Amino acid sequence: MKHQHFFAGCLAIAATALGIGSTGAQDTIKIGLVMPMTGTVGAAGQEVAAAIKLYMAQHGDTVAGKKIEILLRDDGSVPDNGKRLAQELIVNDHVAILGAGTTPSAMSMAPIATEAKVPTVVMISGTSVVTERSPYYVRTCFTLGQHSGIIADWAIKDGSRKAVSVLSDWAPGAEAGKVFEQHFTAGGGQLFETLKVPLANPDFAPFLQRARDLKPDTLFVFVPAGQAGAFAKQFAERGLDKSGIKLVGPGDIVDDNDLNGTGDSLVGVVTAGFYSAAHPSQLNKDYVAAYAKATGGKRANFISVGGYDGMHLIYEALKKTGGSADADKLLAAMKGMSWESPRGPVSIDPATRDIVQNVYIRKVEKKDGEPWAVEFAAFEAVKDPLHPAVK
Ligand code: PHB
Repeated sequence: MKHQHFFAGCLAIAATALGIGSTGAQDTIKIGLVMPMTGTVGAAGQEVAAAIKLYMAQHGDTVAGKKIEILLRDDGSVPDNGKRLAQELIVNDHVAILGAGTTPSAMSMAPIATEAKVPTVVMISGTSVVTERSPYYVRTCFTLGQHSGIIADWAIKDGSRKAVSVLSDWAPGAEAGKVFEQHFTAGGGQLFETLKVPLANPDFAPFLQRARDLKPDTLFVFVPAGQAGAFAKQFAERGLDKSGIKLVGPGDIVDDNDLNGTGDSLVGVVTAGFYSAAHPSQLNKDYVAAYAKATGGKRANFISVGGYDGMHLIYEALKKTGGSADADKLLAAMKGMSWESPRGPVSIDPATRDIVQNVYIRKVEKKDGEPWAVEFAAFEAVKDPLHPAVK
């Protein structure tokens, strides 16, 4: 009797390993997420994870007859961990799809995704070059280039001529600065200096002092998700909010997750961004309400939307392939896909596998006592300007 049980058990394990049987492995699609859940950009990974959980609560955990299983791994905001974790997820856990987070981690994972042919949805990284690192990479978030040229053009139109850039010193900061400078100087402006602030535990004060001493009329700033609050505090402490120097930047500097805690210090600041919690569509109002309910009252921010839409892309692609997780079929299904996101209409550029989306010009205004980035102009279907295929 005992032996029979043991034998039956062995068969069941073997059958599962081979994907045989009605509840076998082929009925489950595993998605491995490599996100910064702790460390320098830890808030971002948590926002993506919360949005994915929300998407699955709203849409169910079965799509095209397949059960979706999420395997979430924390890269600790350390680039090389991304590579190791992706490898483990593929080799040991047999994930069919990966989700990638920030630029350094996504860069380190790219050769692994390519070699194993694993479709990977990039949900946080804003650096153009990332999607060129693997033919299996598709981005649902944003690029800094998408926003930095538009805000430069807006600043020129608004009378800015003398700018100083203050940039977080890593790849997305470099791209933001490069595109801002191209557009600002092409418009007749002058960039006095580019100041680079360390990514980890930044002290903005000396850079803000230096920027002020250069007497620009405009400050172009990029700090990543999760640093807007600390930046706003030091900006106000040095009296820059009342100095007459215009502060502009990509939407990261008015991250909705931090904005609510910045009081009056960012009121009037104009940014170019793809997402504001104040975006007036019904879909977004519902998203903001559902996200707040699911997270104990947090405001949905631009990072969360990259995760929410990443999950949407995976679900819709699986519907198109009839539940097949074959890499080439999934990639074909994802390329050219368009949908209505909480941010507005979006699509995946079939040539670059990058997100095409509206970029809005927004001004921080107080409504019911809270600061919000209120949209007042829109540029439609904006592509990343740095991809060779786009130039
Ligand atoms: C990135 O990983 O490229 C990144 C992360 C957070 C941001 C912007 C860019 O706010």
